[in-house]
Amino acid sequence: MVAPFFCPALDNPSRGGYGQVMRQVVDQTTLAWGILATGRIAGSFARGVDRSLHGRLAAVGSRSPANAERFARDFPGLRVHASYEALLADPGVQAVYIATPHPQHVEWVVRAAAAGKHVLCEKPAGLTHAEMVIMAEAARAHSVLFMEAFMYRCHPQTTKIVEMVRQGLLGEIKLIQSAFGFNAPFDPGSRLWSNAMAGGGILDVGCYPVSMARLLAGAAVGAPFLDPVEVTGAGQLHPETGVDLVAAATLRFPTGLVAQVSASLGVEQDNTLRVYGTHGMLRVPAPYHPSCGIQPAHFFLHRQGREETISVVAQSALYELEADAFASAVAQGFREVPAMTVADSLGNMATLDRWRAAIGLVYEQEKPGQANTQAAATSRDK
Ligand SMILES: NC(=O)c1ccc[n+]([C@@H]2O[C@H](COP(=O)([O-])OP(=O)(O)OC[C@H]3O[C@@H](n4cnc5c(N)ncnc54)[C@H](OP(=O)(O)O)[C@@H]3O)[C@@H](O)[C@H]2O)c1
Repeated sequence: MVAPFFCPALDNPSRGGYGQVMRQVVDQTTLAWGILATGRIAGSFARGVDRSLHGRLAAVGSRSPANAERFARDFPGLRVHASYEALLADPGVQAVYIATPHPQHVEWVVRAAAAGKHVLCEKPAGLTHAEMVIMAEAARAHSVLFMEAFMYRCHPQTTKIVEMVRQGLLGEIKLIQSAFGFNAPFDPGSRLWSNAMAGGGILDVGCYPVSMARLLAGAAVGAPFLDPVEVTGAGQLHPETGVDLVAAATLRFPTGLVAQVSASLGVEQDNTLRVYGTHGMLRVPAPYHPSCGIQPAHFFLHRQGREETISVVAQSALYELEADAFASAVAQGFREVPAMTVADSLGNMATLDRWRAAIGLVYEQEKPGQANTQAAATSRDK
């Protein structure tokens, strides 16, 4: 039997609220995960599943048998598949975690859904809004759960920030500022800098501030999220590979709220979130990788000339929280995870499309007739 737990994002009164979540979850067995791809983040997520309350690692699939064997050494008992196809054909796998580079997301999400597996897809959910539409449709058609892996949405710090904005503690929210950038040295072989791998800051890290701004713009008016009515931007493309090394955007929401977001590779930013309202300001030093475990996550409320520290404790690590939110939603028969819904991903990808358009960033493969547009069309027709 699985121990009861409570995920605030799932305490959905329309589904019966806390009591119902408890009753349903205690009756479930753990969710069996298949890990598709064996790169850096796949290892982090697999460790999260391994320690989670409601998930267990069942299998891994890789394009290379050697990679799959190497990955499995850290997780005794993991079934090893020498192809992604074999992983998807494994009847012991209920949910698949897609950890390929972004251009391969759409194909493997569609194929996982067609195989009847619930899907957690790494961010960004494909390259474009059009690819996200294809993934959403595949999940709907095969009645499986889809979530884009914005793990910070499952952390109680995010829940607390949303709550404070909803309660009006800052007055009327007027401005949101959020940056995400890190200093990766230029390496044309790395997916981060490669045009073929849809590298660049907007898709790799800019997706986080955009998702946060949309979440809080929604919270300010009691909605799950809002989409901007205007997106303007500027950026600098790498002279060799043409991906964005630094980019900024201004989002204007229908409520009048303005958000400034930025993303970069090769340039470290302060990676802080600031939310400005008519009565106060929130400063969140670690909005996307908040502390977990013994060390609480801290952020700061500035009002009437005073600074108050808000501390939030997360009992589990970030990827454990994500795996458990996902498993809990599956256990309840949901087809999406309340912390990051399909509609939210669609809106996020549409905003990223507009940001990229504003700086003239079109990847070679998304130009008409190129590989990814064809792969997306093929996947859609399957
Ligand atoms: N949520 C987060 O915290 C977070 C953090 C980092 C990255 N991400 C996202 O996760 C995804 C993967 O990022 P990563 O940093 O883990 O990348 P990575 O280390 O380069 O690993 C990607 C893996 O994808 C597989 N793959 C499939 N087709 C490939 C191709 N054509 N070229 C290279 N590898 C290919 C490979 O596994 P096999 O050889 O086993 O097939 C490879 O090891 C990205 O979409 C990224 O945005 C999320």
